Amino acid sequence: MEKNNRGKFASKLGVILASAGSAVGLGNIWRFPTEAGENGGAAFILIYICCIILFGLPVMIAEFMIGRNTNADASTAFKKLAPGKIQWHWIGPLGVVAGMMIFSFYSVVAGWTLNYTVQAGLNRFNHMAGNGTENVFGNYFSNFIADPIWPTIYLTAFILLTHYVVAKGIEKGIERFSKIMMPTLFILLLVLAGFALTTQGAAEGLSFLFKPDFSKINSDVILSAMGQAFFSLSIGLGCLCTYASYFRPNVNLTKTAISVAGIDTFVAIVSGLIIFPAVFSVPGMEPSEGPSLVFVALPNIFRIVFADYPIVAYILPFLFYFLLVLASLTSTISMHELVTAYLHERHHISRQKATYIVTTVCLVFGILCSLSLGSGSVLNIGGMSLFDLFDYLTAKWMLPLGGLFIALFTGWQLERKIIWEELTNKGQLSFYGFKVFMFLMKFVAPVGILLIFLDQLNILSFS
Ligand code: TRP
Repeated sequence: MEKNNRGKFASKLGVILASAGSAVGLGNIWRFPTEAGENGGAAFILIYICCIILFGLPVMIAEFMIGRNTNADASTAFKKLAPGKIQWHWIGPLGVVAGMMIFSFYSVVAGWTLNYTVQAGLNRFNHMAGNGTENVFGNYFSNFIADPIWPTIYLTAFILLTHYVVAKGIEKGIERFSKIMMPTLFILLLVLAGFALTTQGAAEGLSFLFKPDFSKINSDVILSAMGQAFFSLSIGLGCLCTYASYFRPNVNLTKTAISVAGIDTFVAIVSGLIIFPAVFSVPGMEPSEGPSLVFVALPNIFRIVFADYPIVAYILPFLFYFLLVLASLTSTISMHELVTAYLHERHHISRQKATYIVTTVCLVFGILCSLSLGSGSVLNIGGMSLFDLFDYLTAKWMLPLGGLFIALFTGWQLERKIIWEELTNKGQLSFYGFKVFMFLMKFVAPVGILLIFLDQLNILSFS
């Protein structure tokens, strides 16, 4: 059928912004502060940055190379590059399963942001704040997520929105959309950080973010930081392989990866600059609050900072949550695209049918994840809600495992000639760090990831 009728991103900026669109999302603005808050702040962030440089960047470049070289979905890519070597062929399907799991629980949170956009649009937050009691936003949030109906409605709306964009194909839509959306998001984040830094909690927030307390580091903190690095960069499951299969031959893969990782880390840190001053400005709020952090601290900060300017207090939260919806959307599109491309190209299901299958399956699991947060829900496994379980299994185990094997594959299996050609665009670019890159791929990333796993499993104990 219409095999190889594959779209391409038109411009280099479009490539960077679409990849950054996949990377920047709830992982930066919601999950990063949550994890940093639960794992002690600055020390976590330091390990996180080390993981980005040592594992994240090399694996991202590897995913780009594999995708662009094969021009295929992630699963087919490994088959093409290592025909007959089935030890590598499960990396693609593992990524597909992980992608569906992430899409399911991620959409729950994206649904919350959609609800917050609507509530902000209706000016509900200012009314709520009006009666002055402290934890109105906390109560609102916990009641909302435990409700069986509304979160399901918003989650469904969000998944359908993703479906709509993916069904239209990857070309102009995603690219043009990302070009407008990403810069707007950056500007708004910087403006908000500026305001957050004027609050009374600013000093405490900054010291939480930047003054490491090394006694807080243990194997859980290390595993969380590694998981967050993989999650935030969208790597480990072939998502960026799929995107790179839409890159043109003249795209500089290394530069693109450095830009994407740089933008992603920058957005995460700026989110921290907004959230933690906000947290320390609200009486009774703790950084280790968990997933509610962003949804409770932010409405509070808007209320505190803009008490005298009702128009600003109305517009900014609306704009912020709206942009969060868009940032989530550019990420869920990439997860959906990963699975859709897999079904379409690998199993020869028509693209339209594939899109429907992915949407339906993720809708079912998304609703189950959402319901698992209700009080007394039966959807708890081993003391964890399905929502938390999906998050835990994917971010902390499946993504780093995928990353470990992508690194091993690139370091030990992939022909050097292919690596060289992809890094230099067939000799047109110079690439100075080839040996360093190969050393990272062969040894540093695999051994590092493995040690962190072993440490967590208590087989080794160095922290
Ligand atoms: N990186 C995105 C975020 O930070 C989420 C995401 C999109 C993702 N695609 C992915 C995570 C693939 C892991 C793998 O919000």
